Amino acid sequence: MSQVIAFTNSKGGTGKSTLCANLAHTVAETGARVLLIDLTPQVTCTSLFLGGDMEAEETIVAALKKKPEKHLEDLVRESDKGLDVVPAHTTMADAVLHLSTIQLGKEGVLKREIERVRSQYDYIFIDSPGDLNELTVNAMVPATKILIPTRINRTDFSCTETTVKFIRDAEELIGPRTVRVVVNMLDPRYLPNGSWHNSHAGRLYHQAQETFNGSLCAIAIPDSSDVRTAFDRGQTVGEYRRQSVVAQRIRELAQCEVLGE
Ligand SMILES: Nc1ncnc2c1ncn2[C@@H]1O[C@H](COP(=O)(O)OP(=O)(O)O)[C@@H](O)[C@H]1O
Ligand SMILES: [Mg+2]
Repeated sequence: MSQVIAFTNSKGGTGKSTLCANLAHTVAETGARVLLIDLTPQVTCTSLFLGGDMEAEETIVAALKKKPEKHLEDLVRESDKGLDVVPAHTTMADAVLHLSTIQLGKEGVLKREIERVRSQYDYIFIDSPGDLNELTVNAMVPATKILIPTRINRTDFSCTETTVKFIRDAEELIGPRTVRVVVNMLDPRYLPNGSWHNSHAGRLYHQAQETFNGSLCAIAIPDSSDVRTAFDRGQTVGEYRRQSVVAQRIRELAQCEVLGE
């Protein structure tokens, strides 16, 4: 049975798309069969793996709106980076609006679509937008694991706590989910084991350990301009600078949270 890993956080800009794209690519490099489903109007993963513009009817919007009547298998595209991608479109808001009007079973629309292709993949990654809405729930329902990237600051922590609570509330309906909070964009001076415990960031990190307790992933991803440069070049970090610290950390994260399961 394939693993389904969803990335979420009610806050934008925490690194959901970056970690989703880079982890999916790292896992695909091991030879695993990987599908990435992009649910975001920013189309970050779509442009990285597929490039170019596409019509809404060629994207996940069609499968969610059922207009035209399309299913996931009609929308899957092969990326030249070794994984399959279901692209998103800038008009994702239309799909959210449509989902909200469905009377029965609106939480399970994406799951039902995923079940149609699930046997063809070992891992399915879902990138979701910085919102908590019908789309977020649709990403959570099929997920076997939910990864919540966060930066080390109070606003991000507060949104991460809100996101965890949203998931815990939903669990009453959908059953338990494994939730992991991943610190992203950590100041590299604090890695590894730097003497940062008395600094402001050090105190916040300590607070994160207390707040998120067993859910906090031990591997933090450093802030690195390599991440931004790689994306601007249309590459993952592993493609751009395979030996960089950040690429190494992403491989460790993949091993610990995805492949090691
Ligand atoms: N570890 C990192 N180091 C440096 N920049 C990063 C890192 N992770 C993400 N970024 C940058 O931060 C911005 C927001 O990341 P993104 O993945 O789009 O966030 P989200 O999908 O949560 O909105 C992007 O410009 C991205 O390149
Ligand atoms: Mg994003």
